[in-house]
Amino acid sequence: MTFQSQLETALQNVLGEMEIPPALLSKVGVTAAKDLQFGDYQTNAAMMLAKVLKKNPRELAQELIDKIELGDLAELSIAGPGFINFKLSAEAFGTQLLALAKDDRCGVPTTEAKKTYLIDFSSPNVAKPMHVGHIRSTIIGDSLSRISRFLGHEVITDNHIGDWGTQFGMVIWAWKGDLNESALQEAPLQELLRLYRLASNASKEDETIKNACRQELVKLQAGDEENTAIWERAVELSKQGLQAIYTRLDVSFDHWLGESAYNEQLGSTVEGLLESGIAKESEGAVCVFSGGTSEKKKDPFIKSDPDTKEFVDFPMIIKKSDGAFNYATTDLATLAYRRENWNPDHVLYVVDHRQGEHFQQLFDIAGRLDYPAGLHHVAFGTICGKDGKPLKTRAGDLPQLEDVLDEAVEAAQRVIAEKSHLENEEEKAALAENIGLASVKFTELSHNRMSDYNFDLDKMVALEGDTAPYLMYSYVRPQSIFRKLENEFVLPDAVTFTEAQEIHLARMLSRFGEILPNVLDDYRPNVLTTYLLELARAFHSFFEACPVLKSAGEVQTSRLALCYTTAKTLKQGLSLLGIAAPEKM
Ligand code: ARG
Repeated sequence: MTFQSQLETALQNVLGEMEIPPALLSKVGVTAAKDLQFGDYQTNAAMMLAKVLKKNPRELAQELIDKIELGDLAELSIAGPGFINFKLSAEAFGTQLLALAKDDRCGVPTTEAKKTYLIDFSSPNVAKPMHVGHIRSTIIGDSLSRISRFLGHEVITDNHIGDWGTQFGMVIWAWKGDLNESALQEAPLQELLRLYRLASNASKEDETIKNACRQELVKLQAGDEENTAIWERAVELSKQGLQAIYTRLDVSFDHWLGESAYNEQLGSTVEGLLESGIAKESEGAVCVFSGGTSEKKKDPFIKSDPDTKEFVDFPMIIKKSDGAFNYATTDLATLAYRRENWNPDHVLYVVDHRQGEHFQQLFDIAGRLDYPAGLHHVAFGTICGKDGKPLKTRAGDLPQLEDVLDEAVEAAQRVIAEKSHLENEEEKAALAENIGLASVKFTELSHNRMSDYNFDLDKMVALEGDTAPYLMYSYVRPQSIFRKLENEFVLPDAVTFTEAQEIHLARMLSRFGEILPNVLDDYRPNVLTTYLLELARAFHSFFEACPVLKSAGEVQTSRLALCYTTAKTLKQGLSLLGIAAPEKM
């Protein structure tokens, strides 16, 4: 059990004997102390409860301290207006460390409130290769899936690819006039991109071509045989290309239910919304307007006109006046499908923040339909170049994801050439691939997802700094100690810590199980990256201050137990970020 829950349980046992309204009681908790000077944990229980118990907070705190049963676990003291501080004993850290060392979950409890999460992530528009922006949804979504699964939730992942949009009108038009069959065989995604760009540039210059492309889309949507065949082939090739990148990134999905999977349901979705009065016809289109339940400023169906400052309708169009359905219609149909098939408690949409308005409207409509799941837009910002502007190639396009990954691997190769102890070229190449991809992932996950960040390859792959290689190295370090031991390391029955650095490392290790669940509070993997960096720093301070191989007896076994548990926890933590820890570097 984590220290936090041990302390909370002991506190609740005392409070359970007092007359406290249950709602208030459930709010009482123990938190990790910000300043370690006064203790490891603290609670403001006495201050929260003094009023209902008609007592002075400091006196109540003393009463709680006298009654609470913690044995040798912690020393208690009162601070300020009535905080209770818990200072854990060195013995408590020793016992906990051994428990962590033996636990294959590194102290992370399996949730007692198991929920079903549907995670919609990556979801690129196909017929175009993935660009650098797609890294964000792909990596954040993958990590959230891994973490929620590890915590014990039921997790369903769905790649809601855009396989039915306007881009296909263009691809089909150019395919008919300009397809290079052998290029398509060799590098399908590049050929599809070439066709798409050809049509897209031509339509910008020529209105008749724009119309021709639209006609191809209309024919496709009406079930035209030739266009359907081209579409099928283009989608199939695109999926293969995407799969190659997912394999390289070690990302997988339970489902690939793209937009086209919902084609049959679009008509009835709109009919249903018309019947229930949520949607109505307007200027030939079908739209959803404000439900009138929220304040105008917060209403996603109302906008303030920038010129007149007056509020104007901002409806969600679900069927265009030409009869076509759109992205919004598909998302509404998808809601129903997911409910019927999986009945999730939470649906996470890991999508660019620029789609914020779309999701606000979607969620509002879901609310009017009494949709039972919690819907969350897990939004993120933009990736910028070193200059702080959105990342672009020299030609002004978004860089393709594959190129970016290759460049990261090359940057890793440079570091390895300079610093690695590996001799074997094959091992070096594998390590470069690992470090390159890990660096891209870690950089992504270590930022607050809403902030933009600068993509600086050399900084990302450096051994020093808040980087993936730094964490990998912190794993390799203890591993190399175990290789140097004469006998195989066996966990001892007891450990003793006397040095501050030993205790601090044990403290950091004991927090893994307390911190990991917090990732899901606001869907922030950077809660985990911050923790892992702090753990690695605690390990390095310990390692500098406390010799391991040069020590002996109980001191050595205790220190080895710390090394062992650190390596194990780092490996587990990294794997939840989708990063494989190498054994040697
Ligand atoms: N294909 C969309 C895009 O590239 C993202 C889809 C996200 N998922 C969803 N259910 N809307 O912008």
